[in-house]
Amino acid sequence: MEVKINTLISQESLEKRIQEMAEELDRVYAGKELRMIGILKGSIYFLAELTKRMKTPVTLDFLSVSSYGNGTTSNGVIHFNKDLDEPIEGRDVILVEDIMDTGRTLSYLVEVLKERKPASMQVITLLDKPSRRVVKIEPWMTGFTIPDKFVVGFGLDYAQNYRNLPYIGEIS
Ligand code: IMP
Ligand code: MG
Repeated sequence: MEVKINTLISQESLEKRIQEMAEELDRVYAGKELRMIGILKGSIYFLAELTKRMKTPVTLDFLSVSSYGNGTTSNGVIHFNKDLDEPIEGRDVILVEDIMDTGRTLSYLVEVLKERKPASMQVITLLDKPSRRVVKIEPWMTGFTIPDKFVVGFGLDYAQNYRNLPYIGEIS
């Protein structure tokens, strides 16, 4: 069967919204330094496009987790593949995620990372599917709220494919 991908959010819309988010972060964190933490691998395009539009001094770190499930949804069992390189104690930290779905990944990460005593910690996500939430957690800043559809592109994958599409699409 041939796979067709329908555009859900165009490259132009992504860039426009990410510019707004960068400006908002610059306003909120004026005079501060930020540690931006990308959750691998899905967040890398968003993190790159966002931070290169920011004027606030930023340092980057990455972590990688796997959530086990049936391929398109997580079941709440989260495994740390790669921890942060640097401590976050006393830092203003932003966790950067590609998409918040059930909320399990981020609520687990927030819980674990808060124990390391950052000065502040917020979660931003490019996409949010609030209708799928099973854990009570809301992102502090969201790029786009989307319906319950499985999407790919701009970092998001289906079985590791399609991450490098420059837009967000839906597989049909
Ligand atoms: P959560 O723990 O259920 O919130 O899952 C978040 C993770 O599930 C994301 O970081 C993605 O890796 C993956 N995910 C959830 N929905 C989608 C989707 O529509 N496309 C691709 N990956 C998704
Ligand atoms: Mg992910």
